[in-house]
Amino acid sequence: MGFSPDWLALREPVDHASRDASLLAQAVACAGSTATVVDLGSGTGSTARAFGDTGCKWRFVDGDAALLDIALARHPGAERVVFDLRDIDQLPLDGVRLVTASALLDLMPLEWVTALAQRLQDAGIPFYAALNYNGQMRWLPRHAADADVTDAFNAHQRTDKGIGPALGPTSADVAAEVFVKHGFDVHRGDSPWRLNGATVQLHDELLSGIGEAAAEAGFAQAQAWVADRRANVAETVGYIGHTDIFAVPHGMGE
Ligand SMILES: C[S@@+](CC[C@H](N)C(=O)[O-])C[C@H]1O[C@@H](n2cnc3c(N)ncnc32)[C@H](O)[C@@H]1O
Repeated sequence: MGFSPDWLALREPVDHASRDASLLAQAVACAGSTATVVDLGSGTGSTARAFGDTGCKWRFVDGDAALLDIALARHPGAERVVFDLRDIDQLPLDGVRLVTASALLDLMPLEWVTALAQRLQDAGIPFYAALNYNGQMRWLPRHAADADVTDAFNAHQRTDKGIGPALGPTSADVAAEVFVKHGFDVHRGDSPWRLNGATVQLHDELLSGIGEAAAEAGFAQAQAWVADRRANVAETVGYIGHTDIFAVPHGMGE
């Protein structure tokens, strides 16, 4: 599946405002000012921009060469690695102090998260993964179909995104459990999108995407729900739940 640079640019300001500030600060401190950080599924480099100008060196790893070109144009000192994340054993982790990801774990299957945890346990490298969709969606004013749309969307989130059945809404809970089993201390934080009159374009596109997914998952009234919600999007407040995790090998954070 592909992610358009326009969509990633649209979500970035809300992503940055939503990240759990404490976990982000811990990850920034872990990376320090000179170390190399690998960002998995980096897209155009949103995580590097969330870190700010810290001095650390970014190694952007993604399967989409066009997104990586944008990332390099915006971060000229970074490394660009076109890579299929399925190949965990070959992940370029030499000299790396921290591995990051954002909006990625919910696309991935249990086997992938388990293999990543094993690889990072062997290498003794912490992992910061932000903005994992956690299955919670709410809107005010309410619509009679909100719960059915959410159920159908969440079912769609569990389908195969090209690498095996995705963890979808369970990704943060499952990843936390897997990393604990692999000897990490796991810290968690909430990073919900709070949508309102200032985020209408993002909200509008999101509603279309949710409706499409819910319809594909079999909810027949999905498009009627989208039409009703889009008609009032500027007056609607939305909550889309995400969870961030920061996993540190035992003993390293003391
Ligand atoms: C939702 S986007 C998030 C991008 C970026 N981290 C951000 O927060 O804006 C997911 C990214 O993961 C990449 N990706 C997904 N599956 C992949 C795979 N199997 N191999 C390599 N990259 C993958 C996509 O190309 C995309 O850039």
